[in-house]
Amino acid sequence: MSETSRNSRFETKTGTLIYFLNGSLKFFVCSIVFTLAVTLLDMINPRIISFTVDSLIGTDPAKLPGFVQNLIEAVGGMEFLRTHIGVIALVIICIAILRALSRYLWRYFNAKGAETFVETTRNEVFQHILNLPVSWHGSHHTGDIIQRCTSDIETIKVFLSEQLASLFRIIPTMILAFTFMYRIHPRLMVYGLLFVPLIIGYSFFFHSKIGSAFRQADEEEGKLSAIAQENLTGVRVVRAFGKEMYERNRFEEKNTTYTMFWIRLMRLLSAFWCSMDLLSGAQILTITSLGAVVAVRGELSAGDYIAFLTYNTMMIWPVRMLGRIIANMSKAGVSIDRLREIMIGEEEADCPNAVTPDLDGDIVFDHVSYQFENGSSHVLDDVSFQVKAGSTVGILGGTGSGKSTLMYLLDRVYPLDKANGTITIGGVDIQDMKAAHLRSHIGMVLQEPYLFSRSLEENIRIANRKAKHVEVKEAARIAHLEEAIERFEDGYETFVGERGVTLSGGQKQRTAIAQMLIRKPPIMVFDDSLSAVDAETDAQIREALSESTGTSTVFLIAHRITTLMHADQIIVMDRGRIIEQGTHESLMEQHGMYRKIYDLQMAGQEVE
Ligand SMILES: Nc1ncnc2c1ncn2[C@@H]1O[C@H](COP(=O)(O)OP(=O)(O)OP(=O)(O)O)[C@@H](O)[C@H]1O
Ligand SMILES: [Mg+2]
Repeated sequence: MSETSRNSRFETKTGTLIYFLNGSLKFFVCSIVFTLAVTLLDMINPRIISFTVDSLIGTDPAKLPGFVQNLIEAVGGMEFLRTHIGVIALVIICIAILRALSRYLWRYFNAKGAETFVETTRNEVFQHILNLPVSWHGSHHTGDIIQRCTSDIETIKVFLSEQLASLFRIIPTMILAFTFMYRIHPRLMVYGLLFVPLIIGYSFFFHSKIGSAFRQADEEEGKLSAIAQENLTGVRVVRAFGKEMYERNRFEEKNTTYTMFWIRLMRLLSAFWCSMDLLSGAQILTITSLGAVVAVRGELSAGDYIAFLTYNTMMIWPVRMLGRIIANMSKAGVSIDRLREIMIGEEEADCPNAVTPDLDGDIVFDHVSYQFENGSSHVLDDVSFQVKAGSTVGILGGTGSGKSTLMYLLDRVYPLDKANGTITIGGVDIQDMKAAHLRSHIGMVLQEPYLFSRSLEENIRIANRKAKHVEVKEAARIAHLEEAIERFEDGYETFVGERGVTLSGGQKQRTAIAQMLIRKPPIMVFDDSLSAVDAETDAQIREALSESTGTSTVFLIAHRITTLMHADQIIVMDRGRIIEQGTHESLMEQHGMYRKIYDLQMAGQEVE
């Protein structure tokens, strides 16, 4: 789907809802059909009771609809019915059975529609979130996103399956009830009707006022989830710094605000429902008294009086429900808006006619500058260098000098505007390539490896699910992970826990290296990947790597000079700029920053 058509689809709440209803609409339609059947069958009962009462007392049922009179004639006339009252009972039982069946089907289709809706919506939203750019994720709280994917979808589901669906019951009920009431006694019906705009108007006024409060409540809940989520993922940091009390207070404070908020909201709602009870009670009282007066005057038979009151009570329920539906409309509206905010986020997209060239050529960074949207200054400032295909480039630089950013740009995790320079591989601008193609050819061992809560083997295999066990073993051997794995009781089946918490920092880094080796991509990036292993293991891994990187172009970022001194070319960065460039030997001769760092590190080693 193109971005423009996607965004126009999510421009309005209705458009968003229609989009998510794809797949579940048919079930809701079936549910509505059976709702209508139940409503209709419900409406017949008071008429039968009124008829039975009146025919027993002996009133002439001439005001019955023609087809009913014909039906009565066909079964043997009024006299027959009077003597065979069981026939009427039979009719009532048949109606009850039909009603039960319709009710079952209504509920069944309703539940199916609701659950299908939730399933489709979750899948759509999740898929969209996965395709959103990294910058979007940087500006949104995980807890809040999770809340939108769970409780907001749930709110919309309840609204659709309970409130909106009952609208199809409420409106016909009201129309039918008023029609029947009109046929029984028009003036009395008008009196009953007078209360309706009052009740609907009151509830509309109340609920339009309360809409913003619901939005605020949702936002507060999102903030609360965000704190909980952050604390659960960062539990070790919280413990290590003895910050439990601080975090607990922070959580409790938010929790109290949230609770107070809901209590206030519920108090308002309770007051509303109470006054609503009074209002509808007044309506029923008025109609019952007026009806009694009319009946005593002889304008209304006993049976009709009962039927009229039954219809009036039947009609009051939907009128009151209408208010509740309006209430939930604003609540659901808020939730739809919150999903809409996710859905209008622009997905990462390739340019039209994106290409998929071979990626084994020279890599050229040409006047690359970069600034984060939320950043004040340039993270990279006019960076230009060239890497020969199959060679190794070492990147050295102070913390925050832009090394990782440079690699994220190469992988297009951050998109680079053409105005801010270009990165080409084999002469083709990476912005003109298919992102998936580019990324599948670049193996990144991230500075902070992220492991999933699966087995070690599954983690190593993550980039190439088809890899055989021998390949996994070979990758583990090169990454010097084999020894550690052998020591684990479950070997390759060891469960690594959430984000790899059961592994040491060095083991995590080596798992990440193995992850990449299994793909053997033509471009390999090691972003500070050997920082958590000792110098000796570092040397052993590098040696093993050099035999397996083969013809791949390698980017080696490190703070330890010994890690990258054998690279074909070394780049020294400082505050987003390249300050020195060359081989180890030529940089040593320059007596610049590289030499200074080298001398410092060597002096340190001697001390050790
Ligand atoms: N997502 C981001 N949003 C805003 N600024 C960022 C973001 N990521 C990084 N930065 C900033 O960009 C600068 C360069 O960061 P980068 O991670 O590239 O540094 P680095 O050279 O890899 O440092 P280190 O050696 O510590 O890993 C830093 O000042 C950092 O604060
Ligand atoms: Mg970094």
